Amino acid sequence: MRVAVLAAEAVPYSKTGGLGDVAGALPKALRRVGVDSLLITPLYRQTKENLLDHLAIDDLRIDWRGREVSAQVYYSEASGAPTFLIHAPEMFFRDSIYGYREDYERFAFFNHAAIVLLRRVGKPLDIVHLNDWHCGFAAVEIAKLRRYGDGFWRNTRTVFSIHNLAYQGAFGMEELWKLGFGDDFSRNAFAFDGAASAMKAGLADSDMLSTVSRRYGFEIQQAENGYGLDWLLRQRSDRLHGIVNGVDYDVWNPETDPELPAHFSAHDLSGKRECKRALLNKFFLPENLDQPIFASVTRLTAQKGFELIQQAIGEILATGAYFIALGSGAKESEDFLQRLRNHAPNQVGIYIGYNETLAHQIEAGADMFLMPSRFEPCGLNQMYSLRYGTVPIVRAVGGLDDTVGNFDRVSGAGNGFKFDEFRADKFVEKIYEALFNYHEPEVWRRIQGNGMTIDNSWENAARKYVRLYQMTRA
Ligand code: ADP
Ligand code: GLC
Repeated sequence: MRVAVLAAEAVPYSKTGGLGDVAGALPKALRRVGVDSLLITPLYRQTKENLLDHLAIDDLRIDWRGREVSAQVYYSEASGAPTFLIHAPEMFFRDSIYGYREDYERFAFFNHAAIVLLRRVGKPLDIVHLNDWHCGFAAVEIAKLRRYGDGFWRNTRTVFSIHNLAYQGAFGMEELWKLGFGDDFSRNAFAFDGAASAMKAGLADSDMLSTVSRRYGFEIQQAENGYGLDWLLRQRSDRLHGIVNGVDYDVWNPETDPELPAHFSAHDLSGKRECKRALLNKFFLPENLDQPIFASVTRLTAQKGFELIQQAIGEILATGAYFIALGSGAKESEDFLQRLRNHAPNQVGIYIGYNETLAHQIEAGADMFLMPSRFEPCGLNQMYSLRYGTVPIVRAVGGLDDTVGNFDRVSGAGNGFKFDEFRADKFVEKIYEALFNYHEPEVWRRIQGNGMTIDNSWENAARKYVRLYQMTRA
């Protein structure tokens, strides 16, 4: 089976969040389970040059907005799978990966270039695996090529994965003409609520749909979480499958992680104490190893429920615990963190910004990880936390609900703490429940062990994708 994965971001080339982790890991995992996979992603200014192996195509000719433009394509295997990076500097060499008025146009170009590239590479594909709204354009283009009886694409099927329905890539319907989607077939796919939606196009025109957890798969079929597209997801529910993301244990493994000052495993946690000491030192916090560290590593957006942390933080600090946060995003949340640190400099450590190394060190050094999301399609940090013996306290939504089980003192089952309603008092209850158990070391080690020994590997998830790919033929 031959599969091309398309994604707007992919580790190690680019990343703003979990999509990058997933797109970087899935093609490699697919290869490990016997699939001939490759990855296509844009080459950004942020992409480290030393990851590129060679210039594969110097002059990829692309019809674009009525004229012919040329792009280059670089080749790399740094992701663990053959990777083609589309180099079109005017589109992708910018200060950030997203956030431009014409993002829809940039990613429409990326999709179109990927399709031209795949044909140029020459071997027909069984599956083109598309991710989030940035790849909705390719779903329509491939469906159209098939309708027109194009021999190269005749046997190709598309799978579209929803990582976050909240971002839809909306733009004006009048733009569709310029992007080559002016025909009725395409317009119908994109049309949504008086505008064009790249997300809707992907959902409408892909052979198979998936999302990154089972629970999120149900949630988005309800009006409250459907962003106006729940009807379409209900209509296509026989095509919609939930597959929880994996963890790339080549990157997130406390036994080998090169970012850590000491290593540890479920059998020997002594290295974790060293990581905790180093983390406290790093943030110039007093070295009181008996006090727990609550941590958060996150994009500061409405999705992540940061206001619950804001409301609960007083209670956390009143117990004497530490709080360490790494994140960037909404200015109000960043300002709040600054004020909090000024207010309690001996208990609070913050880093505003993006820092990969620190993300690893926090996962390793902290005791509890806070993730009270409003919604969470999958969430990766709670799974990283599990592997690093950092007990997650999460809201029971989306992938958080699928991956974290509330600890039960009687049976000894469960790997974290989980609350339902989006309310600070419910969150605080779980924080106290966690603290109560934290102060019984044997019980705590049990909870940690339950999390550390779970197999959330990508190979598991990759096998599920293979079955999904096979189902596109059924
Ligand atoms: P989302 O994709 O919605 O942001 P996920 O939990 O799926 O949520 O993935 C977030 C990923 O981004 C994780 O790998 C996490 O470590 C990383 N991350 C988020 N914020 C930061 C940050 N400020 N610095 C470093 N890594 C971050
Ligand atoms: C999105 C979601 C996150 C998920 C990630 C990877 O960014 O917000 O929950 O883990 O995609 O699928």
